[in-house]
Amino acid sequence: MAKKIAEPTLPPKERAFLVGVELRNEPSLLSLEDSLTELALLAKTAGLEVVGMTSQKLDAPNPNTFIGPGKVEEIKALVEETLAQVVVFDNELSPRHLRELEERFGENVRILDRTALILDIFAQHASTREGILQVELAQYEYRLPRLTRAWTHLARQTGGGGGRTGSTGGVGLRGPGETQLEVDRREIRKRIASLKSELEKVRAHRSRYRSQRQRSQIPTVALVGYTNAGKSTLLNRLARADVLVADQLFATLDPTTRRVELPGGNWALFTDTVGFIQKLPTQLVAAFRATLEEIAEADLLLHVVDITHPNALQQAQAVHQTLTEIDASHIPTITVLNKVDQFPDPQAAAQTLYGLPGPIVAISALTGQGIPELLSTVSRELFEVYIPVRVKLPYQQGNLISIFHDQGKVSRVEHVRGGVWIEGNLPVRLLARFQPFIKNTSNDASEEVGEIIET
Ligand code: GTP
Repeated sequence: MAKKIAEPTLPPKERAFLVGVELRNEPSLLSLEDSLTELALLAKTAGLEVVGMTSQKLDAPNPNTFIGPGKVEEIKALVEETLAQVVVFDNELSPRHLRELEERFGENVRILDRTALILDIFAQHASTREGILQVELAQYEYRLPRLTRAWTHLARQTGGGGGRTGSTGGVGLRGPGETQLEVDRREIRKRIASLKSELEKVRAHRSRYRSQRQRSQIPTVALVGYTNAGKSTLLNRLARADVLVADQLFATLDPTTRRVELPGGNWALFTDTVGFIQKLPTQLVAAFRATLEEIAEADLLLHVVDITHPNALQQAQAVHQTLTEIDASHIPTITVLNKVDQFPDPQAAAQTLYGLPGPIVAISALTGQGIPELLSTVSRELFEVYIPVRVKLPYQQGNLISIFHDQGKVSRVEHVRGGVWIEGNLPVRLLARFQPFIKNTSNDASEEVGEIIET
């Protein structure tokens, strides 16, 4: 008799209960409801099953349990009723809040916050060596001050989301008088130090590659945007690159660069990088600084906005906030309204987003609508638009001095002690490189009066 082979089954998803808190004294980009909806999407992406949610408005967090004691009891009852195994807070919890909440909810319920959830998703999606190291470092830095239940708890946290970073298992020998917790902290500090030094090596390699690229003089265009806006789909469309496209948050973590020919025969390098999100954990911004530098060093940004999203404007604002944080807000930008195939009136959408920087182009990365216009706009911005500038270049920047003469339009040169003032027009693609030397006010020049040695 033929044996029946059991169908492979997926392990049951962990059941999660979500908690949102609006702090009246802390302005937030999204409403409480919208932020919770986003948290539910994050939870789903991390592999959790959302079984319920609740919220509370507070003037300030409760010093012990973040939410009020009555709310803790209410959620405990709801957790029992829904058989939830995890409670996820939409706000970042301090080490003390986490400790107190863990005590109140007991051993069988895991407490997570938005940051831990995002870190977990990043851990699942990182694929390059640098990405994996960066996420692991961010996870340890987040956990170190929050370590309360020693390895059992930590291993469960790491294993639960299925992250690649895995359990950090190997516990060192306990020194005289050290508690297990102290040993664990020492082990984590050691691991943080070794991750940092490994990252240094990977980055040194990358910066050599980047300076090679700069020497090649091909301008770089970075795709930025809120998570799920359609950046990877756009890069695939532009370069027929095989970049992972998925309807989930943070599918792409590691930068992917492709060479694309523009109308008129010039080439540009397009880079797709990590998506942004409101309340992006600070550990992640710090850990991904090197990846984000790719954006800060770009000659032009394409800010991809999902116009079908009800919070498109707030998402665009969150992207601007992060760009400012990583010193990239000065880079010329084209706003790309994506997913117009789903939107009956792209013009109306453009009006909603009035005030976003640079030219606005409506496209569908999925169907290809608007792509030729986008490429012409990129070509125009990079190669045809000239911006008037006044720069002071030290003689050590000989390379930039000759680039200004070769590729810009020089109208006036003044040699002063140690360097040269150049006035003229520069193509947009070169602005970012000259940024540290741009001095457009007349005050900047006045200090040099009397020092001019040749005109
Ligand atoms: P992250 O990796 O999270 O930063 O996302 P991303 O910005 O790279 O988005 P991605 O390209 O992965 O697309 C997200 C989802 O939007 C996918 O399901 C795409 O198929 C869908 N999508 C992208 N562009 C379009 C479009 O022009 N129209 C429609 N209808 N869907 C699109």
